[in-house]
Amino acid sequence: MSRLCKGAALVAALALAVSTPSQAANETAFTDAERAAVRALAVSPGHTPPEASEPALADFGKRLFFDRRLSGDGRFSCASCHQPDRAFTDGLALPEAVGRGTRNTPTLINVADNPWFQWDGAADSLWSQMLLVVENPRELANDRLNLAHTLYRNGDLRAAYQRRFGPLPPLSDGERFPAQGSPHAAPDSPGALAWRRMTAADRDAVNRVMANLGVALAAWQRRLIRYDASFDRFAAALAEDPDPPTNKAFPAAARRGLKLFVGEAQCTLCHSGPDFSNQAFHNLGLPVADHRDTGRERGLRRLTASPFNAAGPYAGGDDDAERLRFLPPPESLRGAFKTPSLRNVARTAPYFHDGRFATLEEAVRFYLAPPEGETLGEREATLDLIPDLSDRQVADLVAFLKTLDSAPLPEAVTTPPSP
Ligand code: HEC
Ligand code: HEC
Repeated sequence: MSRLCKGAALVAALALAVSTPSQAANETAFTDAERAAVRALAVSPGHTPPEASEPALADFGKRLFFDRRLSGDGRFSCASCHQPDRAFTDGLALPEAVGRGTRNTPTLINVADNPWFQWDGAADSLWSQMLLVVENPRELANDRLNLAHTLYRNGDLRAAYQRRFGPLPPLSDGERFPAQGSPHAAPDSPGALAWRRMTAADRDAVNRVMANLGVALAAWQRRLIRYDASFDRFAAALAEDPDPPTNKAFPAAARRGLKLFVGEAQCTLCHSGPDFSNQAFHNLGLPVADHRDTGRERGLRRLTASPFNAAGPYAGGDDDAERLRFLPPPESLRGAFKTPSLRNVARTAPYFHDGRFATLEEAVRFYLAPPEGETLGEREATLDLIPDLSDRQVADLVAFLKTLDSAPLPEAVTTPPSP
């Protein structure tokens, strides 16, 4: 290459370098359609988080949440898995408590806004979700009679309970209320027999105590609300200006990632609304793992069979029994899982219902090509709309997802009460 040519190449390179900033600006200015799509992800100004209208009830719920006496062996509490400083997750692929769980621990931030609970929606209310954990042998491994007796025996819990819900049933009567028992105890185990021998009225009284504990836990979880991420501030700026400045909290890569998220990458087909979830169940064609988890199929069966669903005798005025009449056939949702919230997602690794992906990058890459391997049910065809993205585009999406972290909740909300 001659000296002159070298010079020309240098000039060309310089010209390219000089043109970069204006290209970058074009690349990141938002179209009207993109702005409308971002507005749909932002929290509407009128959105008021469900208030904890009864502070004393929420405080009782907080006490329960951090209390290890809720587990069968007294070693674990809700907070063992839902740790406040990890956005209420545990950092594990699968939780470890009394046993090893089969599903990843989800965040509880903004959980009160959800219509269905658990990855398979096996609960249709926040209060009734508690019943699924307490008696799960891998989680708190308790049983409802034992938990009712724990409340009765411990003055602090008993007083807090009775102040709001009135007297506990006469649990000191061991004939009527055996020490242990549950309809979910292993068939023909002493616990199962004990439960069956009780009168219907006494079983109902114990169930009512469980539902009340769920109501208290839900009241506290309603306070775990945060819509204050860098993304929210950027979305507010974007509502005023199609080309708001970036900054450290919302860098150019995040901006490009946001455009992809609401555009070409099609993420908002499912991750829509202020929690980045359409709150529906989708089959992503994940290759089958050990547990052969059928997801929503099993969730629907458990939900409709549960006496604690919205159509059951323990439901409250806020519960929506109507939608139970319009559920799809369970088999049609085999292998489908709930679209998770993406808020605080950078702090909730590992990812997916079984924690199979360790990093955000792996989770995003999963979408780029149909996965190979046996699947349960049918993978949704809409996923084919997601194009194969470049490495830079994947990095941009990840940079965007990192702007969804919120500030810590006020300490008064998350500090466990002193014993
Ligand atoms: C052993 C770890 C563990 C413990 C202990 C635990 N959880 Fe969870 N939690 C999970 C896992 C795992 C899931 C998802 C379960 C599923 O989908 O089957 C979950 C799901 C939830 C959900 C549904 C969230 C959503 O978005 O659908 C709520 C609410 C919840 N837990 C609250 C509680 C409360 C309240 C307690 C205490 C009574 C508790 N958890 C105890 C691990 C745990
Ligand atoms: C067809 C609906 C659908 C589309 C489209 C979709 N997702 Fe998802 N996403 C889901 C569901 C459902 C899960 C949970 C699946 C599971 O665990 O089995 C999920 C999980 C995730 C997770 C893991 C979250 C966690 O806490 O475990 C991330 C990150 C994610 N999606 C990002 C994206 C991005 C980025 C896009 C766009 C490229 C996208 N998703 C497109 C439905 C969808």
